[in-house]
Amino acid sequence: MTGSSKPWSLIDLLKGWPNPFLLPAVQIKIASSIALSNADISTPGLLYGPDDGYGPLRAHIADWLTQFYQPLSRISAERICITGGASQNLACILQVFSDPLFTRNVWMVSPTYFHACRIFEDSGFHGRLRSVPEDEEGVDVEYLRKALHQSEMKAQAEGNTQPTLKPTRPWSKIYRHLIYAVPTFSNPSSRIMSLQRREELVQVAREYDACIITDDVYDMLQWPTDKTAVQPSREHAYLPRLVDIDRTLEGGAEREGSDGFGNAVSNGSFSKIAGPGCRTGWLEGTQKFAWGTSQVGSSKSGGAPSQLTSTFVSNLIESGELQRHIFKTLQPTYARRYQSMITAIEEHLLPLGVKLPQTTRDVVGGYFIWLSLPAPMQAEEVAVRAQQEENLIIAPGPIFAVYGDEKAVDLERKVRVCFSWEEEAMLAEGIQRLAQVIGRMQRNQRQQEEATPSPREGSSFLVERHR
Ligand SMILES: Cc1ncc(COP(=O)(O)O)c(C=O)c1O
Repeated sequence: MTGSSKPWSLIDLLKGWPNPFLLPAVQIKIASSIALSNADISTPGLLYGPDDGYGPLRAHIADWLTQFYQPLSRISAERICITGGASQNLACILQVFSDPLFTRNVWMVSPTYFHACRIFEDSGFHGRLRSVPEDEEGVDVEYLRKALHQSEMKAQAEGNTQPTLKPTRPWSKIYRHLIYAVPTFSNPSSRIMSLQRREELVQVAREYDACIITDDVYDMLQWPTDKTAVQPSREHAYLPRLVDIDRTLEGGAEREGSDGFGNAVSNGSFSKIAGPGCRTGWLEGTQKFAWGTSQVGSSKSGGAPSQLTSTFVSNLIESGELQRHIFKTLQPTYARRYQSMITAIEEHLLPLGVKLPQTTRDVVGGYFIWLSLPAPMQAEEVAVRAQQEENLIIAPGPIFAVYGDEKAVDLERKVRVCFSWEEEAMLAEGIQRLAQVIGRMQRNQRQQEEATPSPREGSSFLVERHR
């Protein structure tokens, strides 16, 4: 439906939630019933627990991640700390490992998951968040290196050489810099950071005493790009995480002479693979880092968060139900949803000049597709018109700008669309409605240009205006 009268049904391509149909309620019901019917599980589950979380869950996560990521050596339970999900744990990491006076800046790959900005600001970093641009391979490491150097020079000139706000504690350290990224199937840019960039990023972090915090929450939601692939799922990770690279690169995170905390830490979450309402996740880092995180005041007071839910999720992994849900339900369903949306994009948006990132990769995943609009279109105007004229909600690029450093990366012509939430049958129609809006705006633009006297031949409009 087009024109001024709104189509009847709202299509929401902004919301980054799983469709309710994909929640494993039955499996969680069985797992919770097993946990609550056995006093050996329900008693520790209903009491305060250990600081680093429910032991059996830590062990199951360690084995399961070993199978999925296939690192050079197995992941031990000591590297895992149970959390209240990726967002909650980002706040905990900051409480233990940063000092808003000594820690110079937070370097965020831009566009960024904007809720992380609020968490950094809550921890005292208002005004010190910095954008680091992405290109087709992921984070621009050379840009980051130069910016880190300048930031370090400034801190040295100001005599900022010692943490002053936080006490010295044997289980923690205060990093000079923080780097935040979503390296695989990024929210919002849907990109995958290349292996080479991952290695370079770890090297830069080591040079500048930075802690790279990655939200690896979409890694397991992946499928082949090829629409005709017989197997619409993949059981092993596409690339090692930054934490895997830090563990092994050039002597690893615990190499001789290092402090043993490492320079990369992974935030995992059950939000995208079980249900966000679980609010349970895990951190993986060096043994020292994982233990340090568990010593955050709020976990010292009664143990890690999500203790009861941990007993349910532990059973889900032990029984293999979670893995089956991911590989047999989520991956094929999201693959189908993605294909439906991308086919509509190819048919209706690419002919209008809209572009996609990383078009040659053989694996895609996550929840989102990132679109570049043709000039001179502005994403915010497109989003407003989509809502007014087509009853369609999309996410305009500027909302993913790093707070306080919005101008460093141009997101004016970017749009994020999500294929996880809206009803599957509506995804293609959502894209068609977006195409209607863009097509109309382009026609209006052409009409305006025809009505305005054209600039002198051979010179651009801007040059003409400045003569
Ligand atoms: C990159 C990223 N990190 C973290 C989260 C939230 O994770 P959790 O529910 O575990 O806090 C999301 C959810 O949208 C996300 O996209």
